[in-house]
Amino acid sequence: MADRLDALLAAARLVRQRAHAPFSHFPVGAALEADDGTIVTGCNVENATYGLTVCAERVAIVKAISEGITRFRRVVVVADTAEPTPPCGACRQILWEFGGDLEVILADLVQVRATHQLRDLLPFPFDARLLGDARPG
Ligand code: THU
Repeated sequence: MADRLDALLAAARLVRQRAHAPFSHFPVGAALEADDGTIVTGCNVENATYGLTVCAERVAIVKAISEGITRFRRVVVVADTAEPTPPCGACRQILWEFGGDLEVILADLVQVRATHQLRDLLPFPFDARLLGDARPG
């Protein structure tokens, strides 16, 4: 498991170098580990309109889903900051939608700084279970 974590950390640090972050100068890398061990990465991709910026975590999820990878174990988020960088609120929701109660590992360029369960970062989530009564049939 330790070597797998090392691979996940390395993948997140590598993809972070591809971040398109000319406005914030805050590059972030994310690496999702699928149930079968496949690693899917994402970096933040900013836009001059600012509001169309996509976070690293969401890029990784969208890439995975579009490749047919749908079950996940954990996600690593890497930034080069003094404080660990947690997923933003929107990313927590998207991660929950596709990954459920994922392990969320926050790291910098050298070490793991914190590990959380997504349920603790997103208590009382809205998800498809709550659509039950609203769906026809
Ligand atoms: N960002 C991420 O990609 N992931 C996070 O977990 C936090 C924030 C990005 C969005 C934006 O491009 C930059 O970091 C500053 O907010």
